Amino acid sequence: MKSLIRNCSHGSEVYLLQETGGTGNVESMFKSSSMPEGVKNLRQELEGVNWYNSKNSKIIKAVIDHETSHYISIKYDYVRGENANFQDGYWVNRNWINLAIEHYCDIWRDIAKDADALYPLHGDLSLDNFIFSGEGPVILDWEHFLISAAPLGFDGLYLIFEALWFEVNNRAPSRKTLSHLASMIDLMGARKCLDIKFLDNPLSQVIQFIQSHLSLWGAQLENCRNKLPVLMFEDKAIVRIDNEIRVLIKLES
Ligand SMILES: Nc1ncnc2c1ncn2[C@@H]1O[C@H](COP(=O)(O)OP(=O)(O)O)[C@@H](O)[C@H]1O
Ligand SMILES: [Mg+2]
Repeated sequence: MKSLIRNCSHGSEVYLLQETGGTGNVESMFKSSSMPEGVKNLRQELEGVNWYNSKNSKIIKAVIDHETSHYISIKYDYVRGENANFQDGYWVNRNWINLAIEHYCDIWRDIAKDADALYPLHGDLSLDNFIFSGEGPVILDWEHFLISAAPLGFDGLYLIFEALWFEVNNRAPSRKTLSHLASMIDLMGARKCLDIKFLDNPLSQVIQFIQSHLSLWGAQLENCRNKLPVLMFEDKAIVRIDNEIRVLIKLES
């Protein structure tokens, strides 16, 4: 039996359905759209999943269920595992974040860069889009994928700052949260998954990258700013957080 789970959440033009088998267990997920931006994003998602599968030992099985020039429906095998509650913020989720950043580095390492030093973009690397399966983390939701679009480290930094947003909004983060966050940036640097230009002011640069490349997120972001929660950090908070991180990170810039 198929049931609708999400109806164009965050203005995405994409429907999410799940299919249960005879035993009542979820067996498949379907993402479909008949609207232009939704169809475009789902085609990008398929490219993203194919790229990811070429880099990862655990494969996400995805097939086109139905396609016309104006419609696409993709069927995914259901991935079993644990979810973090991403809205609980950074500190509660620090162990999930550590696993997610290690996985990010496993996937994004050793990618030949193009002349402009642009790397594959996931575009919504939230803890909400991870499933922690018995065979390791799995990244879902590749609707904004582009093979050559972002500086190295962008998605990993996005993930940690989104988690920070849910913990503090525009209040000051605790020392322990910032130390852990800085250790994640150090990890990305040590694993050669971070463009050093991020080191001076990583939060500011993540936000600047989004704001100067809004078209990568399409109408979805124009209609719904909180689709990317890091855009809600205020300037004063951004400067304070970047200043504190600069002191804590150990990497040489
Ligand atoms: N193949 C899958 N296996 C298990 N859960 C899935 C799968 N696809 C989607 N989900 C669940 O549905 C949620 C929404 O799917 P996602 O692809 O992230 O779409 P959205 O753009 O609506 O966030 C995911 O966070 C996950 O919990
Ligand atoms: Mg999602």
